[in-house]
Amino acid sequence: MTTKIIGTGSCPGERVVTNDDLAKIVETSDEWISSRTGIKERHLTTGLGTSGMAARAAMLACENAGIRPEELDLIVMGTSTPEYCFPSGACQVQAAIGAVNAAGFDISAACSGFVFALMTAHSFLKSGMYRNALVIGADDISKLVDWSDRKTCVLFGDGAGAAVIKAQEDGCFEGMMGCDGKKWEVLTCQARSGGNFITEKKPDLGYIYMDGQEVFKFAVKKVPECIRQVLDANGVGMEAVRYYILHQANERIIDSVAKRLKEPLEKFPMNIQKYGNTSGASIPILLDEMNREGMLNRGDKIVLAGFGGGLTWGAILLEW
Ligand code: COA
Repeated sequence: MTTKIIGTGSCPGERVVTNDDLAKIVETSDEWISSRTGIKERHLTTGLGTSGMAARAAMLACENAGIRPEELDLIVMGTSTPEYCFPSGACQVQAAIGAVNAAGFDISAACSGFVFALMTAHSFLKSGMYRNALVIGADDISKLVDWSDRKTCVLFGDGAGAAVIKAQEDGCFEGMMGCDGKKWEVLTCQARSGGNFITEKKPDLGYIYMDGQEVFKFAVKKVPECIRQVLDANGVGMEAVRYYILHQANERIIDSVAKRLKEPLEKFPMNIQKYGNTSGASIPILLDEMNREGMLNRGDKIVLAGFGGGLTWGAILLEW
């Protein structure tokens, strides 16, 4: 038993914010941001929030898959920015779309969230426990950003992407996940923590902290490594891969991964210029755009690869 993606959907944040808009609030420029990252603009949510964007992406994915929400058995959502500690974002989506027969939970793996969520849902399908699952990557990352810190605030955007997957006998779906907890301090955002009646402190709340150069070095080394690992484990050569759909964190990271794999940049579609880094949402948003633009043909082999805080990484080889 294996897994096939049968439909996709996406929903970016409602408001477009350009590099020039950011130059009005911090000392930066369109030239600096574009040349260092490839980002021209990003979308920020002004009302929908994580679960609202996720529910819209989920409905579109169900429509695209030709499946009714009641037919879903499972919802797995990769997010670092749920609105509540509990309930999970997946439960909010379940209610919003009427997926009354689905179990749901969230996965916390930062920008690798969609890949980890997809691997998790795939494992349930492969085991025979469920047949239809909805996998979401959704983040309202703008609420974790310190908007006075130019080193990070120019990088991120909000959005959600979703895919409906189905169990089936034939096809190809193989992947790996990894993490290096020793490097957790390189990319962090503290949750509400450290306060109770004994400490007489109010819990602290954090903003995103990132050692950009460490993250950059990690990504350009680890992403090609995990892609090679998945391809080698399945005896698939790089010439057989139609597209590498990477987490959209920085155009220069993607360029560098392409060079290290000695693969042409045309195999690495990008939409970072429009959305910035949408964390767990970046891979499914890009996948949905490619699907709707007719770039994917049934039988194409594609690789998804995510990386982010944790540090975490993961790659999936699948047949469209
Ligand atoms: N606008 C203008 N100048 C800026 C700036 C901004 N938005 N942000 C930083 N700078 C300045 C710095 O203050 C520094 O100035 P200084 O030399 O006077 O101190 C200079 O630009 C260089 O900063 P540095 O941090 O060395 O830049 P960089 O070339 O490493 O690029 C990143 C910074 C963040 C773009 C880059 O490190 C990166 O992309 N890292 C990976 C981040 C990532 O992908 N994270 C998410 C992973 S999921």
